[in-house]
Amino acid sequence: MSRDKIIVQNAHTNNLKNIDVEIPKHKLVVFTGVSGSGKSSLLFDTIYTEAQRQLIETFSTFARTRMPKLSRPDVDDILNLSTAIVIDQKRMGNNLRSTVGTATEINTYLRLLYSRVGKPFIGPSFYFSFNHPEGMCTYCHGLGKQIKVDLDLFLDIEKSIREGAITHPHYKIGGFLWKELITL
Ligand SMILES: Nc1ncnc2c1ncn2[C@@H]1O[C@H](COP(=O)(O)OP(=O)(O)OP(=O)(O)O)[C@@H](O)[C@H]1O
Ligand SMILES: [Mg+2]
Repeated sequence: MSRDKIIVQNAHTNNLKNIDVEIPKHKLVVFTGVSGSGKSSLLFDTIYTEAQRQLIETFSTFARTRMPKLSRPDVDDILNLSTAIVIDQKRMGNNLRSTVGTATEINTYLRLLYSRVGKPFIGPSFYFSFNHPEGMCTYCHGLGKQIKVDLDLFLDIEKSIREGAITHPHYKIGGFLWKELITL
C-alpha cells in the first residue's frame, strides 16, 4: 500500500455522503466546490480533526488533560495521516514579526535556502532573517511596512506645549498627559 497518499474511507461528517478519497502527499492539492458542498467538512472537521486527535493521543496523560477533547470524526478510517497544520485567514497575534512562516518554521528553511542559493554579501545564514538587525530591510526593519509619526500633523510649532503644541488628542490641553508635560 502506498504511503504517498492519505486515504480517507467513508467520510460522513456533516453532509458528506460516505466519501472515499485519496489525497496525494508532497503535492499542492486544492479542494473546490460551491458553498456548502462540504470542503470544510472534509478538510477541517474530518482530516484535520483526526490528525489533531492522533497527535494528542501521543501526549502524556498529564499533557492531554490540558488539550482540547476531540471526538473521533465521522469517518471509518484515515490512513497515512501525518501532523497537520491549519492556516486560515485570521491573524495569529498582534506582532508583525510573527508570521505564517515563523509559526510553521518554514521561515527557518527559507533562510537556509537563501543562504545557500543567494549571493552571500553580508555573512552567515542567520542574516537572512527579517528579524535580525543585519538581515532586515533597512527601510521597513522587517515589518513589511513603515510606521512613523507625521510631525506636521502631530505638532503645531507655532504654539508652546502649554498652548497645545502637541495636537494629538491624547495631549489635549487640560488632559492627563498634557498635565504630566506641563508639571515636568
Ligand atoms: N457543525 C456542523 N453541524 C451541522 N452541519 C454542519 C456543520 N458544519 C457544516 N455543516 C453543514 O454541512 C454542509 C457543508 O458545509 P461546509 O462548511 O463543509 O461547506 P463548504 O464547502 O466548506 O462551504 P464554504 O465554501 O461556504 O466554506 C452545509 O450544509 C453545512 O450547513
Ligand atoms: Mg468552508
